[in-house]
Amino acid sequence: MRLEIRRLTKAFGGVHAIEDVSLDFASGSLSAVIGPNGAGKTTFFNLISGAFPADSGQVLLDGEDVTSLGKIARLRRGIGRAFQVASCFPTMTVEENLVAAVTAHVGQWGNPGRRLPPAGVRERAHEVMELAGLTKVAGVEAAILSHGDQKLLDIALALALEPRVLLLDEPTAGMGPDERWRMIERVRGLWERQKLTLVFIEHDMDIVFQVASSIRVLCYGRVLAEGTPDEIRSNQAVIDAYLGTEGHDTPAEGAPSEATP
Ligand SMILES: Nc1ncnc2c1ncn2[C@@H]1O[C@H](COP(=O)(O)OP(=O)(O)OP(=O)(O)O)[C@@H](O)[C@H]1O
Ligand SMILES: [Mg+2]
Repeated sequence: MRLEIRRLTKAFGGVHAIEDVSLDFASGSLSAVIGPNGAGKTTFFNLISGAFPADSGQVLLDGEDVTSLGKIARLRRGIGRAFQVASCFPTMTVEENLVAAVTAHVGQWGNPGRRLPPAGVRERAHEVMELAGLTKVAGVEAAILSHGDQKLLDIALALALEPRVLLLDEPTAGMGPDERWRMIERVRGLWERQKLTLVFIEHDMDIVFQVASSIRVLCYGRVLAEGTPDEIRSNQAVIDAYLGTEGHDTPAEGAPSEATP
């Protein structure tokens, strides 16, 4: 599913969090959004998912303008997003959480064609669990999962809703180097298998340059640059504003932003 953003703008009081941003994400593409802390990356996702209304501009899905729709309606159109861990049921197991998510997805939205018998729900929950690499912890309570598995559960809960565009805000935040790579390989694997349009925000430049085929750089709410990894690596404006002159090491370690929805 193609995601087009046209002249999107959002201010919080005097802070221009996103200003006149136009970006196009091709159907089935794998893109990274990067930029310094406070650049507006999370706000950009919030405007796409409908968590906040934009002040102006448009969000289009396969050419259809969804700007006036709320977040639930956008979810139904296929814009998925990893939930905050808090949105799962902490005392339920991984499997129970996913069965609940699939049940909500196939039941509540009143699409009779989608209704599944209980066995079908369980099968779909297991499929999602397998995709996210959570089968081995199926019977573990969500609250006591490792940090990495909690992040995977967030992603699995988003997958249960069958998104066609998936937005991941710092999927590797708070992880050590090995765990980061395992996480991003998992993300790349599900992008390949699900033919998703996947957009991820990431501060680890080694991961960004290796995994994303297209990179968009935000700075002070504006698009500073967009291009392939090679183009971004050698873009002087990006080096000056974000990458620094030391190469592409992780810049001032991005404080994971957990505060916004
Ligand atoms: N709900 C909000 N209310 C008020 N200001 C906000 C809100 N959300 C974001 N902002 C402000 O908008 C600007 C952009 O914030 P945003 O969280 O989008 O940046 P970011 O690029 O995701 O940063 P980070 O890399 O630290 O996660 C910041 O100045 C932030 O303080
Ligand atoms: Mg952020």
